[in-house]
Amino acid sequence: MKGIILAGGTGSRLYPLTKVTNKHLLPVYDKPMIYYPLQTLVDAGITEIMIVSGRGHAGHFLELLGSGADFGVHLTYEIQEKAGGIAQALGLAEDFVDNEPVSVILGDNVFQDNVRTAAETFKEGARIFLKEVPDAKRFGVAEIKGKKIFSIEEKPAKPKSNLAVTGLYIYDAGVFEIIRTLKPSGRGELEITDVNNEYIRIEKMDFSMLHGYWSDAGTFESLFRASELVRSTKSI
Ligand code: DAU
Repeated sequence: MKGIILAGGTGSRLYPLTKVTNKHLLPVYDKPMIYYPLQTLVDAGITEIMIVSGRGHAGHFLELLGSGADFGVHLTYEIQEKAGGIAQALGLAEDFVDNEPVSVILGDNVFQDNVRTAAETFKEGARIFLKEVPDAKRFGVAEIKGKKIFSIEEKPAKPKSNLAVTGLYIYDAGVFEIIRTLKPSGRGELEITDVNNEYIRIEKMDFSMLHGYWSDAGTFESLFRASELVRSTKSI
């Protein structure tokens, strides 16, 4: 299975921290943010990984991570010219993925769980990873009953549950066909939630619950919280 880290976007919610550097290079406790999603893929046993970043500071990713040898992986780099959404950024990886299943992780997501079993046993369709949160309206929110998932709403004003859809997704190669059918959302982006709802519609979506901590790091509060969570598991 291949892996993709999506590290495009503008980082506007972290301005002025992102005025002269890229969001994914900012520190989360003792490491640059992008180390965390990279380590999650490495821990899942994935060794062929593409990093999709925006134009600004793309060279800094290369300087920081190089060939990937320090992590025991092989890294490939791709540029997303404009922040057209998470699904658009993923679409750029089609040739790299080359009809294999793929694990996709957002560059500003910090996970404690190891998802190796999910990656190794994945066969077809899609799998998402859910986490109970107190502030669901900031995320994609899943509606589930028992083992069945009914829908995902992107940043709903009135969330139907407290289950956030975290920024880690496993897809079969059919994901690229779905991306081609998408229309930009109200915020002008190709939404990963629309991709996931299509897998739900064709009844090929599975989900797992995360048990460890999880945080995004794209706002001042969540960036601070992500650092605290990482720090809380270190013996200082
Ligand atoms: O963190 C999980 C949430 O991430 C999910 O619950 C939501 O369903 C999903 O839409 C997303 O929400 P955000 O609005 O918080 O995503 P954001 O625009 O902050 O982008 C998150 C990462 O995705 C960002 O660090 C880099 C990547 N990205 C984003 C955009 C818009 C790209 O690579 N290219 C892009 O054009």
